[in-house]
Amino acid sequence: KKGSYDHFMQKEIHEQPHSLTTTMRGRLKDGGVLLGGLKEHLKTIRRSRRVVFIGCGTSYNAALAARTFLEELSGIPVTMEVASDLLDRQGPIYRDDTAVFVSQSGETADTLLALDYALENGALCVGITNTVGSSLSRKTHCGIHINAGCEIGVASTKAYTSQIVVMAMMALAIGSDQISSQARREAIISGLSSLPRYASEVLKLDSEMKELASSLIDSESLLVFGRGYNYATALEGALKVKEVALMHSEGMLAGEMKHGPLALVDENLPIIVIATRDACFSKQKSVIQQLLSRKGRLIVMCSKGDASVVSPSGSCRLIEVPEVADCLQPVINIIPLQLLAYHLTVLRGFNVDQPRNLAKSVTTQ
Ligand code: UD1
Ligand code: M6R
Repeated sequence: KKGSYDHFMQKEIHEQPHSLTTTMRGRLKDGGVLLGGLKEHLKTIRRSRRVVFIGCGTSYNAALAARTFLEELSGIPVTMEVASDLLDRQGPIYRDDTAVFVSQSGETADTLLALDYALENGALCVGITNTVGSSLSRKTHCGIHINAGCEIGVASTKAYTSQIVVMAMMALAIGSDQISSQARREAIISGLSSLPRYASEVLKLDSEMKELASSLIDSESLLVFGRGYNYATALEGALKVKEVALMHSEGMLAGEMKHGPLALVDENLPIIVIATRDACFSKQKSVIQQLLSRKGRLIVMCSKGDASVVSPSGSCRLIEVPEVADCLQPVINIIPLQLLAYHLTVLRGFNVDQPRNLAKSVTTQ
């Protein structure tokens, strides 16, 4: 079933141009978005006072990537909840909330318990899952199947990018009654249809990421700095590295750098800075300058053509990615980091598809 690939994780990373296509199939119509599972509930969602995203691990990170554009396109405030933390706090969930549960498997215990809790509290509960017939799909009031195809590797890869795309389509559908953002919506829809092509393009970085991985095999730790749309990319890239390559890695909000992490910077600690084009670009450029002036060992992810802008002295290692609509950039940016985590794992000699101590679906609390 792995075909020409050595591991499921590798196959699933390389499948993304296809899985993104199946996720969008039949859903982008006549310049608009059609989500069969949501259309009866759009009015209720638009009337809700707040959207609460709930998930664990990679699914939480996907929701975090979607938060900004959902707020932008819907005008509804969005809050984030790690499922176990919502339960630990017994945090407030109200009748006029829309609670959106994100889970690849649809069987994660914490997420399902948070769903029971939100149902008891009277919220509209929406599911986003890859698994038709899963508990999440059955117990939510409505939802969207991401249709990414079966994901076998314990490390979630193609589900992550499809989840973000589904949440982008959800944001477009919720905001579709707002005339003022029509041009923005059209630009995002056209960006969505070209994503599979750009995913194929970014996958060509495979051998470059293998080479980068070989320069990092003996590192003890890897930091990833992101902000704005790509804070989630930093968290998710670091999660991939720690869970499969068994290397300590942390995703960090670049805006928090001076509030602690800067103390860690020296010539040895590798740091990935995500600095692709968006509204935060100039802030990321100054983060790079500050890290360089402390002799940081930098790997900068930038938009194609920006090499001399982000690293005029040529002292940073670069990962150049194609530029897409700002809010969709996380879908492209995570792919080289997935490849990096994959190659690091193989080179370090660890089990790619069954990492130590982990299960594909965490069905106990
Ligand atoms: C549906 C069909 C799809 C068909 C298409 C044609 C299914 C599973 N999907 O897709 O095969 O090609 O119509 O129009 O038969 N739901 C939840 N919670 C969730 C996820 C989904 O309640 O977490 C519900 C939805 O509200 C909807 C149903 O499940 O009622 C199917 O959802 P989805 O597959 O996303 O709908 P379509 O894309 O319309
Ligand atoms: O099936 P789910 O999306 O609910 O799973 C949630 C997490 O357990 C999962 O994403 C986990 O973090 C992955 N192993 C990440 O690759």
